[in-house]
Amino acid sequence: MKKSITNQLFDRFWVIAGGVNIRIKIIGIVLALVVLLGGAVTWQVRQLLSQAMYAQLTEQAVAFTRDLAARAADPILINDLYELYTLLQDTQNNHPNVRYAFILDNDGYVIAHTFDGGFPRELIHANSVTDNAYEHTAVINTNEGQIWDTAVPIFEGRAGVARLGLSDAQVRQTIDAVTGQLLLTTVLVSIIGITAAVFLTWILTYPILDLVEATQAVGRGDFSYRVKRWANDEIGKLTDAFNKMAQDLAQAEAERAGREQMRAQYVHAVITAQEDERKRIARELHDSTSQSLTSMIIGLKAMADTCQNSELQRQIEDLRMIAIQTLDDVHALSLQLRPSVLDDLGLPEAIRRHVLDCQRRNAIDIDLAIQGLDNGRLPSEIETALYRIVQEALTNIIRHAEAHTASIFIERQANQVIAVVEDDGIGFDQSILQWQDGHLGIYGIKERVELLSGQLTIETESGHGTSLFVEIPLTTEPVV
Ligand SMILES: Nc1ncnc2c1ncn2[C@@H]1O[C@H](COP(=O)(O)OP(=O)(O)O)[C@@H](O)[C@H]1O
Ligand SMILES: [Mg+2]
Repeated sequence: MKKSITNQLFDRFWVIAGGVNIRIKIIGIVLALVVLLGGAVTWQVRQLLSQAMYAQLTEQAVAFTRDLAARAADPILINDLYELYTLLQDTQNNHPNVRYAFILDNDGYVIAHTFDGGFPRELIHANSVTDNAYEHTAVINTNEGQIWDTAVPIFEGRAGVARLGLSDAQVRQTIDAVTGQLLLTTVLVSIIGITAAVFLTWILTYPILDLVEATQAVGRGDFSYRVKRWANDEIGKLTDAFNKMAQDLAQAEAERAGREQMRAQYVHAVITAQEDERKRIARELHDSTSQSLTSMIIGLKAMADTCQNSELQRQIEDLRMIAIQTLDDVHALSLQLRPSVLDDLGLPEAIRRHVLDCQRRNAIDIDLAIQGLDNGRLPSEIETALYRIVQEALTNIIRHAEAHTASIFIERQANQVIAVVEDDGIGFDQSILQWQDGHLGIYGIKERVELLSGQLTIETESGHGTSLFVEIPLTTEPVV
């Protein structure tokens, strides 16, 4: 459904108004209120004042003209034009608002006037009395403002008409002065209002800004931030609630960190125990089982050589073959459990041998590149971790990836060592790592990496192969 125009306008307004900060909003409200109130009051006062003053002006015009008419009657009757002229001059001089005055005789001819540069004839018809018993006022627009032109019949029209023009300049001046005063007051009140609003919003928004900062701090994981309580109002209550929440979070975080530390210690202990046990079994297999098997093979060989019975000799030879196979298997097993090369010759050689072994047993092409490890060895826990990580990653590639080629890249950099294991296999959906139980290989890699404060990143997509990136920081000096 299409939004109505009002809604659209409101949306547009809210995009602008909602975008500015509270301080500007409150100042805007105060300013709008003051300007609206000031404007309305000024307009209202101006209206009322105009009405009153113009009514007064009309009355004044009538009063002046009546006075003029009354005083003009005698000079007209005795035809004293000089007296009439003096009367008109006096009237104009005594009242500064009087613009002009003149007397018309019964036939409508001007017999005396106050105009210096000739009488404007069109003025005669601008106003006239309709009924000789009453006066009549007309408003004439001139280029110096409006003139209240009043005509008063003299002797009920028998001796002519007295006309007087009263300018509204003073009235306008007064109205404008009052309007100006009111507008000035509005501006002053606006300034006071804005100052008050700035102070008020500062009081109001300071704790809110403090809360925003605190929320951001909590978001960053800093639970020690406490907000100062400013007042006992809603914001004060919010502050209390926030501080309580931060305190609870800090406690929960401390508990979680404690548990995490315990878990890390436990995992470390498990991994160490596993490594020690593997080492022990591998050594046992090498030192004891392999030696026994070798002695057995030598004994069987000697037996076969001295035996005269060819049937028995064949059986002894078969047994010797089985013993040789078993010795080979024991070798492979001990190598897998814990290659002594890792301890004796170091990581590059151990990985090289493991890769060769994998290639020998599986139809896969593995590219191996190791850089920066020729001069000195890495700390032994990092060597073990990297060896196990490569071992598990290769096992996964062989078991799951259906890949033709794989590559291993290990590089020791200035303050970290990185390992990248990639394949061109089928890839997988990483979400299974979270939901499937019993798949501990990648989890184990992650644990080992995290115990060494490193980071594991897996990039994989169904059908597009898998890449494992491992970064382990070298905080301690490597063992040379
Ligand atoms: N290189 C890979 N290519 C394809 N799938 C893989 C690869 N590595 C791991 N996976 C998938 O991720 C799952 C979890 O691997 P892992 O944690 O090592 O457990 P597991 O090997 O015991 O199944 C595997 O079952 C497999 O589906
Ligand atoms: Mg696995």
